[in-house]
Amino acid sequence: MAVLVAGGCGYIGSHTCLEFLEQGYDVVAADNLCNSSAESLRRVEELTGKKIPFYEVNVCDRAAVRPIFENHKIDCVIQFAGLKAVGESVQKPLEYYQNNLNATLTLCDVMREFGVKRMIFSSSATVYGLDNPIPYVETMPTGECTNPYGWTKVMSEKILQGVAAADPEWSVVLLRYFNPIGAHESGRIGENPNGVPNNLMPYITQVAVGRREKLSIFGQDYPTPDGTCIRDYIHVVDLAKGHVAAMEYAMHHTGTEIFNLGTGKGVSVTELVETFEQVNGVAVPHVYVGRRAGDLAEYYANADKARRVLGWQAERSIADMCRDSWNWQKNNPNGYSNEKPL
Ligand code: WQD
Repeated sequence: MAVLVAGGCGYIGSHTCLEFLEQGYDVVAADNLCNSSAESLRRVEELTGKKIPFYEVNVCDRAAVRPIFENHKIDCVIQFAGLKAVGESVQKPLEYYQNNLNATLTLCDVMREFGVKRMIFSSSATVYGLDNPIPYVETMPTGECTNPYGWTKVMSEKILQGVAAADPEWSVVLLRYFNPIGAHESGRIGENPNGVPNNLMPYITQVAVGRREKLSIFGQDYPTPDGTCIRDYIHVVDLAKGHVAAMEYAMHHTGTEIFNLGTGKGVSVTELVETFEQVNGVAVPHVYVGRRAGDLAEYYANADKARRVLGWQAERSIADMCRDSWNWQKNNPNGYSNEKPL
């Protein structure tokens, strides 16, 4: 039983590789390293004592993907390979549509050739768009995204639903992530963004470790109890475990299923910063500035379906997320960059 993890060197991909290995599955990884480091996989091997065959390929390249399926008996593909910076996607729409859509199309095409018909897809709460009421439920309409990144997720979901509809032997699971943060409790793998972080938690940890002077909190005038935005933060290890549950579901079911992976609880920016400071005993200097374009005031998951159907639920608290993010950052102030490549 081998899973191919496309985008396996990234933040969520590396934690997912680790979780599959710990549950006794074989893992093969593919990644073009355009926004990740193979050092993450080396550390997963170190943590688990197991080997991960690694292919440094762009999964948009059919000829480069085929040998993976020739060399390994792949039962399921977990598709993380894609570009993910919301702001950058507005500047580079063609790169986002080309990369993110072709990655999934090419993988599906090669899967079809080799008779592999199970895919778990890395989607996002961003597909709920601007108009849905909270909490978000899987049955709500998608679309009305404000950026090309979000549209690539909406479109990829549609493509995969079409593939499963056309061939009754296919099994597709669409996982809509809320806001993944945290790191493996070992502190050996974690989030390692290039350049200035776009997302909140890596910004907080880089301020705490002294790489950046202060955090700017975007907006203090939202219609929320403390005026800052509310999100559903989920520990990346819980998220990784959700992929194992989804794969086990896909082994026994066909068709398409969609699951929110969140905690179902909303936390404000100020609450997250204060929890981080308290749990870790470190200061995170911050200032309140104007709103960031495109931010919604508040959203969180209805996470009932994953619990009911997959038997999965998030178990780690906001304090756990803050502790583990800090443990990773303080032990790796420059991420993976000081380490020798694989
Ligand atoms: C969280 C909150 C910010 C940075 C985005 C994408 C989503 C998904 C995850 C993944 C917001 C505030 C942030 C900072 C701040 N994409 N903030 N200062 O925007 O909920 O979701 O990333 O691949 O599709 O939309 O996450 O972490 O950027 O922001 O005040 O320096 O933190 O305004 O309220 P977001 P985020």
